[in-house]
Amino acid sequence: MSGKTGAGPVSLSYLDTLEREALAALKAVADDASAEAYRIKYLGKKGAVKSALKGLGSLPVEERKAVGARANAINAGLEEEFGKKHWKKAAAGKRSGQFDPTLPGFPFPRGSLHPLQKVRTEICSILMDMGFDIAYGPEVETDYYNFEALNHPPHHPARDMQDTFYISDTVLLRTHTSPVQMHVMETQKPPIRSIMPGRVYRNEEISARSYCMFHQIEGLYIDENVGFADLKGTLLAFCRRLFGEDANIKIRPSFFPFTEPSIEVDVSCFLCKGSGCSVCKKTGWLEILGAGMVHPNVLAAGGIDNEKYTGFAFGMGIDRIALLKYDINDIRLFFENDVRFLRQF
Ligand code: DAH
Repeated sequence: MSGKTGAGPVSLSYLDTLEREALAALKAVADDASAEAYRIKYLGKKGAVKSALKGLGSLPVEERKAVGARANAINAGLEEEFGKKHWKKAAAGKRSGQFDPTLPGFPFPRGSLHPLQKVRTEICSILMDMGFDIAYGPEVETDYYNFEALNHPPHHPARDMQDTFYISDTVLLRTHTSPVQMHVMETQKPPIRSIMPGRVYRNEEISARSYCMFHQIEGLYIDENVGFADLKGTLLAFCRRLFGEDANIKIRPSFFPFTEPSIEVDVSCFLCKGSGCSVCKKTGWLEILGAGMVHPNVLAAGGIDNEKYTGFAFGMGIDRIALLKYDINDIRLFFENDVRFLRQF
């Protein structure tokens, strides 16, 4: 019977026998070779079940439907049983020795913090240790907060220091984090000790050294009797925490409309320890921030009594410090999100 493979007459009783035989034979399937032989013999294209279906054509029309349905049902049932058996066998194989514990596991790639985020967190935590709290302000600002309140009158030439993206005549993308100083002064009473991290935008040509968007951290300290020595001591302590205990600072006079006097601060090059290298361009110093004593006009614009209170402010570029710290030579790498670059941090 199992030898019947040609397209001969087929009956319901033939199919019953075929099913019984096939189920019995399935019990004997024990390994891959016998499973394949079974599949070919009973379930293959030329196997017993498909051959029986071919024999349908020679049946009278009245019988054809019932016999065809039975043959199809047998085929589906055998396929299912065969599938189950095979599945059980595969699972048992895994449990009993085919599993190789020395194979490397599936990799779970772990993310890492963006270098800018790392530097920002480090700077903020140093300043928070020193008693500053964090404040935030909007990136879309008004001309008033970005310039006017910070002592840049409408036609002041210092506005040209920053190429501004204007949204309308009075609304713009902030060019620095200094406007957040104004929001802080308007909402807090002295003593004020705040740092203000965030994104800033400038309409600058994109190159290895400059980008249209970058990051700054602003600092503001206002109280009675705050003097220049407090500014100097704060910045020195900050630089030593960030760049190492042997770091030194150099103060140069500068100009910002919102501070008087204004300074720029260089830190001794932490790579060559001041002896001169390519990063510090052989000077031994790296320019890292602008600062100064808050201009009395700015205190007044912020609603603070400038007879009673004085203060200092500073601002630094996070991107610039990250470029220096990690010795990266192209700022654009920070914004391309190439994981081969980001994975290194
Ligand atoms: N806002 C300045 C800039 O973007 C940096 C700065 C200088 C901030 C002096 C200050 C400051 O708070 O006092 O170039």
